[in-house]
Amino acid sequence: MNSCSSSMTGIDKGISNEELYRPNFHFTPKSGWMNDPNGMFFYKGLYHLYFQYYPDDTVWGPMHWGHATSKDMITWNEEKIALYPDEMGYIFSGSAVVDVNNTSGFGSLNNPPIVAMFTYHDPVKEKTGAIDYQSQAIAYSLDEGMTWTKYKNNPVIKNPNIKDFRDPKMTWDAIHNQWIMVLAADVETKIYRSSNLIDWELASAFGKNLGVHGAPWECPDFFPIKVEGSNETKWVLLQSINPGGPNGGSATQYFVGDFDGKTFSIEETFNQDLNKYGALWVDYGKDNYAGVTWSNIPDADGRKLFIGWMSNWEYANKVPTKNWRSATTIAREIKLINTNGHYRIVSAPVKELDKYVSKTIKKDTIKIDKTTVIIDETSADMSRLDIRFTMNGLKKENYDFILSNKEKNAIHFGINKKDKFFYIDRKNAGQTSFSNDFAKKISVAPITADFDSIDVRVLIDKTSIEVFYDNGKTVMTEIFFSDKPMDSFSIVKANSDFELKNVSINQLKSK
Ligand code: FRU
Repeated sequence: MNSCSSSMTGIDKGISNEELYRPNFHFTPKSGWMNDPNGMFFYKGLYHLYFQYYPDDTVWGPMHWGHATSKDMITWNEEKIALYPDEMGYIFSGSAVVDVNNTSGFGSLNNPPIVAMFTYHDPVKEKTGAIDYQSQAIAYSLDEGMTWTKYKNNPVIKNPNIKDFRDPKMTWDAIHNQWIMVLAADVETKIYRSSNLIDWELASAFGKNLGVHGAPWECPDFFPIKVEGSNETKWVLLQSINPGGPNGGSATQYFVGDFDGKTFSIEETFNQDLNKYGALWVDYGKDNYAGVTWSNIPDADGRKLFIGWMSNWEYANKVPTKNWRSATTIAREIKLINTNGHYRIVSAPVKELDKYVSKTIKKDTIKIDKTTVIIDETSADMSRLDIRFTMNGLKKENYDFILSNKEKNAIHFGINKKDKFFYIDRKNAGQTSFSNDFAKKISVAPITADFDSIDVRVLIDKTSIEVFYDNGKTVMTEIFFSDKPMDSFSIVKANSDFELKNVSINQLKSK
């Protein structure tokens, strides 16, 4: 939740669009433009989040790293800007690690340095028509990420004459005892390694003919992860692409495989059912991009924690907020499961969100033999909800949920079991005219196996909906701009009766 949104409750009391649209429990900058999350690390009880930031306008511009900190990834305090552009260029996306053993020599064992790597994007060189205007540079912090010193011998990786060469993500590879870094280079991921975070050796490249191409790859992340319920460890590569997402614009595909310390290899990228989607996607909704994971999470915690940018380059610069633009997704825990021989990511909101539940309405069974209101404004503030239930008795039919208001704004989402897809349809959810791409089509995600029962979790935060199906195996995140807050959540009757079980409607606190 934003510290600055604490007084924003009286939506109906004639407050501005600004207040109408600012989320309750997702991070937004107080003012200015934001895109990708950057440099996230955990240290001494604080989660750090940096982000692509342009403080002087609400459209993309000369990039800085903004900064926010949180004890729980839900309530964020915006801090001072961490990195400013300089004569070498704008500060594009990148990552940060805690150099616990002071391998870089920038700090000491007593006060380990935090080392960040980012891309310098040189706009002056870009204008000359040269293509080598992106290079990788580092900076370090000796005060736990609050202030930063740029390294004197930047860049640490020069441009090898590749136009799109950016977004370094560093990880400590404890298995091979080395620092590794992945970088998006045109339509591949380059993997580098280092012993000191300063000198980097190119180890390999991945992805030339794999997954979705046709546009630059951006913002990779690469990490080992235990397969749930086994002792097996696999490596996951998250690889954003824009455009090329399954529903248009920006999205993040992923690959699961093995890493020998130099080369990443995969056995399969997708199965037949997923073929038309071209790859596996972290999120099939239109608004989860450039997401990466936190570094330095203690072993005792052991989670893989992820956050994305809740927008899409197709319209991010045009959404109808005024003094600020863009929010992050809810922070999510990522797990890897093996389902019938296929490795799949599952995601769920971080458990810290549970602390924000102020009231729970439980219903054991709701029989759906007619269109039914599950919750409305008479019993809950519809702008901050975490709803969970299991659907039982499903047939090959369409199961349609509606989040709506009296202004006749409605966002539909659900499960089309007949034609085998999950969907979100925001065509009539309020303002859409700011971009032709915003609600041109419904967004869909594949159903790959038959089921007659499925669990569903829905997070609603004023202007966003994040739907987690089947324990987070399929996720869809989308934003919307209704004319008034939504005030009713209902489910449409299907041809045959079915039921919702274990319904738990959690009201989230206003701060
Ligand atoms: C992804 C991206 C990155 C780049 C940054 C610039 O959204 O295009 O590739 O570093 O945004 O702001």
